[in-house]
Amino acid sequence: MGWNPWNAFRTEVTEAKIMGVAETLKSSGLTGAGYRYVNVDDGWWLKRRADGRIEVRTSMFPSAAVGGGETSLRPFVERLHAMGLKAGLYTDIGRNACSQIWDPKSPNLPEGTQAEREVGSFDFQAQDMRLIFGEWKFDFVKVDACGLADYAPGKSAVTGGQYRALGPYIVRERPDLSNAVYVESLYASLNKAIAEVRPAGDAILSICTWGEANAADWARRHGQMWRTSADIHASWESMLHNFDSAARRPLYAGPGRWNDPDMLQIGNGAFDGRHLVGARAHMALWAIISAPLLLGADLTKLPQSLVEIAGNREVIAINQDPAGHQGVTVSRQGDTQAVVKSLAERGAKAVALINRGDKPARMSLSLARLNLALAADVTVRDVWRGDSRKLEGAVITRELGPRETVLLVVKGRPQPANAVYLNEMPANIHVAEDGQGVLAARLDPSWVPAQASAAPSGAPLRVNGKRYDNGIGILSNSRLEVKLDKAYRRFRATAGVQDGAEGAPEVRYSVYGDGKLLVKKTGKGAVRLDVSVDGVRTLELVAEGGVTPPAPVMVAWGDARLEP
Ligand code: GAL
Repeated sequence: MGWNPWNAFRTEVTEAKIMGVAETLKSSGLTGAGYRYVNVDDGWWLKRRADGRIEVRTSMFPSAAVGGGETSLRPFVERLHAMGLKAGLYTDIGRNACSQIWDPKSPNLPEGTQAEREVGSFDFQAQDMRLIFGEWKFDFVKVDACGLADYAPGKSAVTGGQYRALGPYIVRERPDLSNAVYVESLYASLNKAIAEVRPAGDAILSICTWGEANAADWARRHGQMWRTSADIHASWESMLHNFDSAARRPLYAGPGRWNDPDMLQIGNGAFDGRHLVGARAHMALWAIISAPLLLGADLTKLPQSLVEIAGNREVIAINQDPAGHQGVTVSRQGDTQAVVKSLAERGAKAVALINRGDKPARMSLSLARLNLALAADVTVRDVWRGDSRKLEGAVITRELGPRETVLLVVKGRPQPANAVYLNEMPANIHVAEDGQGVLAARLDPSWVPAQASAAPSGAPLRVNGKRYDNGIGILSNSRLEVKLDKAYRRFRATAGVQDGAEGAPEVRYSVYGDGKLLVKKTGKGAVRLDVSVDGVRTLELVAEGGVTPPAPVMVAWGDARLEP
């Protein structure tokens, strides 16, 4: 949680503005509510010296002029640290930055010779990470990727001699033309360089390839957060688009690895002080999918009404719930969508009822979809309204205004009483192999190889004509690791090929406990699995087989659940 200046200031990122926002973060109470990272985005650099060291633009960061011809951001970081804040910086994984291509008229672009203008980390990973984390003491780095995407041979900035050609290793919206393996290797080595300077492991690497080059599949191995889409704009449509890009992937996130739909636009455009309904919706959506909460407006101008929305402690508590489960979409009809996030307290669920459209809508969600029992003691707290009520009946119903999101915390008795479904514990699941393999380029981009409570295509889970509201949908030739930590005694599921999947192949389902095979069954239709997992730390669910191997097929681990 914190703030990033890009949405408000682009490359006009002066020390005075940032410190102004930092003061406001504190005085407004937002730091107390959890917003602690103050990040610098594109625009801070002047040039790379012949010895490789980056010089800071001291006209923007006066405190960086430390004398003797040196520049250092250490005084700036120390001021933030003294305020109890954390500090973040920005660089690029290629040789050049995004502003150099996308903000060509900015007065704050790197200066000097072609080599001096190569401020990205490409040939300087270890040196730059030593400078940023070792010498300057930053806590966070956002590493962008325009250097791999926008400096292809033949681009005018390159043929004109302004910049050196590189790649392209990322071609936007064309994973088939991007070199995901190479892009991953660059972030992997950068992450190693950070670990050498910050062995405590408390630094944050924010990977910014905008969801390109299959980052969603590999970024969790190297960074703590990764962008899932292009930049957010202050419009309703852009906000929903970015939300969707992250919301589809709950199985890929968890503590220390978060889908990042980009900075919040609260305070800007469709989410400004005249659009409180939209601002609440935006905040609720980021909260329910456990997204990083990086504010992006000029906070010195943020009206109190929006400070209260961004600083709402109950909403933040949902976002920051220690279990770290990302919310899972349990229904999507027309313009309405319901997302459920299991909270650490057993039987407690945060629920977002979302009206994406511009007309009023009525939404209903049954307790069954929350895996809660119909009982007299179900309480529903409406977080924005700030009231709690006992639920009458088995269904939560709400009338929603245009673009309204109702955010609830529902507490009741789990149903079944002694089981937890895998889709209720996405943070405990690691998608070790998602079945995509070499087929990455061919997968429909709206599909997600591993889904909670849905098939990879997004359809409801269905095997042999039976629908499963609970379970995991995944491609075959996949392996899921589930963290049990010896807390459960039985695993049960009905596995099978998703109805409507191409062909009718045989699939082999194997369940391993700490590397030992517990059960293996093969079938075309539904296969019942029921096995003791007593004392198991890590459960593995493997599905092998396919149409004409190695082409995968959609399979379902229907009703997959653990019993203590
Ligand atoms: C984009 C990035 C933005 C911002 C910008 C700076 O690639 O997605 O969040 O950092 O570059 O130029």
